[in-house]
Amino acid sequence: MSNRYAFVGGSQGPWRVTEIRSVIGASLEPAERLEIVNSAVEFLPANSAWVLQSVVSNVRYAKRQELDTLRAVQPTLNRSEALTAVLIPIKKTAQWWALAQDERRAIFEEESHHTAVGLEYLPEVARQLHHCRDLGEPFDFLTWFEFAPEHTQAFDELLRRMRDTKEWDYVEREVEVWLHKASGRGL
Ligand code: HEM
Repeated sequence: MSNRYAFVGGSQGPWRVTEIRSVIGASLEPAERLEIVNSAVEFLPANSAWVLQSVVSNVRYAKRQELDTLRAVQPTLNRSEALTAVLIPIKKTAQWWALAQDERRAIFEEESHHTAVGLEYLPEVARQLHHCRDLGEPFDFLTWFEFAPEHTQAFDELLRRMRDTKEWDYVEREVEVWLHKASGRGL
């Protein structure tokens, strides 16, 4: 299976867009539906507003013990009850990328407790991190989250806590794309 993905905002796909909201910087054009394709997409497909390309890559910052903890509790994507998803494309600043790996790790975890805070919301939230900085894309990351609709409030709280950290001083663009999937077979 390819590690390349493309998130196509347009008129097709299982996910219905319920809201597109800019958090920091420019938003994305409106779209009705989202399709996730497990390959690179060369051209903007017909009837689509945007395509965001990404790659699922290796971890950068997580330590052994954090990986073990995550693996023990994190749920898989595509659970039948996870009818709400949020795609959050993020771009970090030039200052962030000018830091050394150990400096970024220190801000990410020792100061901001990204993983420790995030773990409090597992196993309710399933997640997948996509990288796109080296593909020359407008964002550096596409972050993807899935959960049952009753956990929306908890997820909102997680977003507030994340954005209140030192790590977010280095975020210069962030958009929330809220999605809903109909339950049942064939939908
Ligand atoms: C649901 C709970 C969450 C957990 C357990 C979690 C965990 C992690 C971990 C372990 C990494 C580091 C991966 C590596 O070592 O390369 C990471 C990276 C990242 N996460 Fe989360 N996260 C969560 C929620 C979030 C949320 C809500 C956002 C956005 C609002 C977010 C945005 C990011 C970004 C942008 C990165 C990449 C950071 C970088 O490489 O500079 N995460 N997350």
